[in-house]
Amino acid sequence: MSKVATLEIDGKRYEFPVVEGTENELGINIKSLRGESGAITLDPGFKNTGSCESGITFLDGEKGILRYRGYAIEDLAEKADFLEVAYLLIFGDLPSKEQLEKFYDDIKEQSTVDEEMKKILDGFPKAAHPMGVLSSLTSALVAFNPSCVDVSSEQDMYNAIVKILGKFPVLAAWTLRKKHSLPLNYGDDSLGYVENLHKMMFEKPGKKYEVNQSVIDALDKLLILHADHEQNCSTSTVRMVGSSHAGLFASISAGISALWGPLHGGANQAVIEMLEKIKEDGGDTKKFMAKAKDKDDPFRLMGFGHRVYKNFDPRAKIIKKSADEVLGQLGVEDPVLDIAKGLEKEALEDQYFVDRKLYPNVDFYSGIIYRALGIPVEMFTVMFALGRLPGWIAQWREMRLNKEPIGRPRQIYTGHTHREFQAVDKR
Ligand code: SDX
Repeated sequence: MSKVATLEIDGKRYEFPVVEGTENELGINIKSLRGESGAITLDPGFKNTGSCESGITFLDGEKGILRYRGYAIEDLAEKADFLEVAYLLIFGDLPSKEQLEKFYDDIKEQSTVDEEMKKILDGFPKAAHPMGVLSSLTSALVAFNPSCVDVSSEQDMYNAIVKILGKFPVLAAWTLRKKHSLPLNYGDDSLGYVENLHKMMFEKPGKKYEVNQSVIDALDKLLILHADHEQNCSTSTVRMVGSSHAGLFASISAGISALWGPLHGGANQAVIEMLEKIKEDGGDTKKFMAKAKDKDDPFRLMGFGHRVYKNFDPRAKIIKKSADEVLGQLGVEDPVLDIAKGLEKEALEDQYFVDRKLYPNVDFYSGIIYRALGIPVEMFTVMFALGRLPGWIAQWREMRLNKEPIGRPRQIYTGHTHREFQAVDKR
């Protein structure tokens, strides 16, 4: 027997069907609400509003569960590799060996970028933030790949998908190369996807690139942990822009801009900057905890809190464990790791944080590993974008295949009612 929700406005009752998901989540389908009652819902930040039905990622914020297409994040982080997870998110199942090989071959075919793109990159000042550069370069891909814009056939979507999976790591690496005055380079078809990303970022002119498996394994795991997270701010942006049929590249470019914000993906950079500030200030974590709780102080404990997780972010648990392993393997001592652990311990025992269910999120420890891998802090959110790319692609593809309507929320108007125009000499 399907469930029904009843709403009463001004004594009149309205009934709405209730959608039940495969994990028993309930959603009230209010498609007919305005037509029947004239009223709309109001939910700033969409804290209680579902934008779509999706089969890609499930998370349970109360229980700290995260699954990609039904597979637990803990399993994927330990047993899969990033390209395999990208295929899983985008196409729905783990690939066979042959499927994975063909997928990567198709991506390699697309992993060069039009030489003219270098002129756009040259136009940026060195001080430009890599996220702004990357968003612009991704949007510029449209100009060199016009056939990838308003695609609707699965084959055309596939062509657009392998193009951006091939070109995006090149553009991301080039934003770093440009900032550090290193020549713009390419990958090597004999290397893997993540190996190539690292090679393009860090190979030194005149030196043979050597694969450091510990580094590649750490990077691969971090990219998997960032790969998707249902309808977060940047993914919702990708779906919104994609719903106007602006195309995959323009939608991803918009998602990069949304991710850049310090309340979202930009938090991984803000966390390290915060930890460095605490270290320089003498390491007094209690002083910064007090600032975080002071409503008159704009300071927030970056890397803490989450819109959905009201328990440990399962990704943070895995990254925290990995941080100890990676720093140990690389023989890196980083004092901010101890400061981070001290902050976490204090926050988990502090009533303000306990009452608000504020736990470390994916961004709290990730920067410590990025730094140990030699990635500059201004590139941390680019690393987040590289991980999230398959998730954005999967969500865009699902929205297009489901033929979802253009996103266009309503509002409640609270401005002036009608008033007559006054000539300037009468005002
Ligand atoms: C990501 O959505 C996703 O899935 C995102 C993400 C993904 O994979 O895509 O998981 C990635 O963006 C992780 C979040 C990274 N951002 C940060 O670490 C920035 C610091 N955290 C916050 O600013 C905040 O916690 C948010 C933005 C993450 C969530 O904000 P909400 O859900 O709007 O919660 P809120 O701001 O209403 O906070 C509720 C209360 C408030 O206090 P009261 O008004 O109830 O007294 O908790 C307080 C807030 O002041 N609070 C914090 C805090 N986060 C929330 N207080 C101090 N420090 C913090 N970090």
